[in-house]
Amino acid sequence: MSDRLLEAAQAARTRAYAPYSSFHVGAALEADDGTVFAGCNVENASYGACFCAERTALVSAVVAGHQRFRRLAIASDAVEPVAPCGLCRQMLAEFGTELEIVSVGARGGQMAWRLDALLPHAFTRKDLRGNA
Ligand code: THU
Repeated sequence: MSDRLLEAAQAARTRAYAPYSSFHVGAALEADDGTVFAGCNVENASYGACFCAERTALVSAVVAGHQRFRRLAIASDAVEPVAPCGLCRQMLAEFGTELEIVSVGARGGQMAWRLDALLPHAFTRKDLRGNA
């Protein structure tokens, strides 16, 4: 994965609003035309209202009119690279399960997956069509 996308995720991580967990996460989502959308986690005193970095990036991209994505980069404070949480996997899957994901940890180690490996048998719009 290009350094450009990882650098965008690292830059977004520095803008995380995480006063409760002190766990800072940045994400950068690349649309099919190469446009990059950044996201960071945004926490709230009502903990259940917190947004993950991956979802803020996704929502920002959709607001800008993008619905097709190639790659997602994630950067966090964790020593080991983190994979997106289940809720983010589900939201990302809405726009395609072939998304390439790379994550970098605090010591620079990287891991990469395709979304369909992280969320096999995803529930998507095709399942709604099977509704009796
Ligand atoms: N978080 C993310 O932003 N992305 C992940 O992949 C895992 C978790 C955030 C949510 C919360 O603000 C903090 O990290 C601790 O869970």
